[in-house]
This record gives sequence, structure tokens and C-alpha cells, in this order.
Amino acid sequence: MLIRKAANPGYSEVTPREIYLNRRRFLATGSAILGGLAMPLAVRAAKLAAAKTAFNAGAEKVTPQNVVTSYNNFYEFGTGKDEPSKNAPKWQPISPWTVRIEGEVAQPKTLDLDQILKLAPLEERIYRHRCVEAWSIVVPWIGFPLSVLLNQVKWTSKAKFVAFETFYDPKQMLSPRQAGIQFPYLEGLRLDEALHPLTLLTVGMYGETLLNQNGAPLRLVVPWKYGFKSIKSVVRIRFVEEQPPTAWSLSWPAAYGFYSNVNPTREHPRWSQKEEQRLGEGGLFNAKFIKTQMFNGYGEQVAKLYEGMNLSRSY
Ligand code: MTE
Repeated sequence: MLIRKAANPGYSEVTPREIYLNRRRFLATGSAILGGLAMPLAVRAAKLAAAKTAFNAGAEKVTPQNVVTSYNNFYEFGTGKDEPSKNAPKWQPISPWTVRIEGEVAQPKTLDLDQILKLAPLEERIYRHRCVEAWSIVVPWIGFPLSVLLNQVKWTSKAKFVAFETFYDPKQMLSPRQAGIQFPYLEGLRLDEALHPLTLLTVGMYGETLLNQNGAPLRLVVPWKYGFKSIKSVVRIRFVEEQPPTAWSLSWPAAYGFYSNVNPTREHPRWSQKEEQRLGEGGLFNAKFIKTQMFNGYGEQVAKLYEGMNLSRSY
């Protein structure tokens, strides 16, 4: 079980916000966590060469860390928002954690977490994260573009989509029947979406490695799409020719489409998509509601991916 209290400074004390993690210390920490030990993650302030305005959620306030780590959707560990933070810490992610990359590729490849962490410097990016259930958070993720990992293989000309799969152990996790969705949890992106520089492979948040409930040790973050596209605890990546099935679209196709771009003009049968409640702001009686933006505010970077498409039909 992970014991997780950081000796590193609180998030707000880390300035400037663009930080590099000390990768060697991070690797040590990552291995220790996989081995069941907990060590604080060392951070050191350094400027990032990356264009910071494109990757930061403007002047928006970062959501308090305790909200992001205790109000979760991770159906493998329970369907209530408070259940993943209670149940997931008991789970011991397999060590070494590996990701299999296969499908329409010249040569399938399996990489472990240490190998993945060596592929690129880690960056911190503050992204808005909008759940279809009409709540949103602003999170300082730590990771690097998914394209870095995908580029470790040569995909064939048939590859048009990328399918992702979460680790699943029925002995430690809910059954599909209990959860109401298919397991292993499945997600997918079109190849150009998967290669988009905003699409992040994350290993941490708030200057620390990811907690189990947030998708340890490796999780996708696709900020212009509803939160459920951001698949947690990834073990398999498959290049495929056809649009792959996804856990939520299998369970309720009319409500959950493959694209699931944040879109205030396309209503969901259960929750309004016009506005969202920013968690951790306001209180129980004066919750803060804000207008939901097309593509969650990332239209400038991603709208061109969908030129000529009818987004009401391809929802
Ligand atoms: N990934 C897996 N494997 N299982 C899940 O149930 N839930 C999704 C997504 N990724 C989910 C998942 C949903 S519905 C949302 S909104 C986000 O994770 C929630 O991420 P958070 O709990 O870190 O805020």
C-alpha cells in the first residue's frame, strides 16, 4: 500500500510553475513505489523550453490536490466518487509495469515503465479536465506527449486509429456486471488525435507520481475531450485500421460517442453540457458554475483536426 505524503513543497510554492523533475530521482521514486515503498518526488525549478501559454490553463486556479485525489471515476475500484480513493490504494500495480505496443506495426514492442520514463524529459502542463458529468478540474499533470511513445514503433499504412486498454485483475477489481461497463476498460483515438502534441502520457500530478485512483502508474490525458477518454493505468496500445470499441460507447452508444470532444452544443441525455461546476471552488451552497467551452477551450489547437466533419453526428 502506498504511503503518500510529500516532503517536497506544496504545489503553490513551486515557482515558476514550469518545472522539470529531476529524472534520476524520479526513476528511483517510481521504482520504489512499484516495490511498495513511498518516497517523495524531488522537484527542481527550471524553465521549460515549451511554449507555456499553449500548455497552461490561462489564469485559472489549479484545483486543490485533495479534491483531485478524492473525487474520482475509476470504475474498476467502485462506481461512487469516493470509492476509488478508498479502494485503489490497496491495489499493488504489477512490477515491472509494462506497456505492449502492437497491431498494425512493423514490430510489436513491450516497454517497461523505466524505459518509458527515459524516452523524453518530463514536463508539467496545467490542463482543464472536463467530465461529461458536468464537473471540471484544473490539474498540473506531469508527463510527455504520447507521440513520443508511439514513435517507438513503425506503424503500417493501414493504421488509422489507436486503441488503449487498462490493466484488469478481476480478483482485485469490480466485475463488469458490478461496474456496468466492460472491462478491461477500453478507449481509442484517431491516429492524428493520438499524435497531437496536446495528448499527454502522464506519470504524475502536483509534483508527485500518480496515485492509484488517478491512474497510476501511467495514464492518458486528452484535454479537449470528456474525461472518460483519459484512460487510466494503461497496459496495451494497439494500432488498428478500424475505429475501435470503447468501454463507454459499448455500454450506452447514444450517450457516449467515439470522439467525445467537449461540446456545449451537443447535449448528453443525463447531464447538461452547457455549463460545468468547477470542483473545489465556491462551497457546498455557492458552487461555482462556468460556461463550458467548445473543445474545452483548446479549439485553437485542435479544431483543425475536425474540419469538414459534422460534430453533432460524429459526437
Ligand atoms: N480509466 C479507467 N481505466 N477506468 C475508469 O473508470 N474513468 C474515466 C477516466 N479514465 C475511468 C478511466 C472517467 S469517466 C473520468 S471523468 C476520468 O478518468 C476521471 O479521472 P480522475 O478520477 O483522475 O479525475
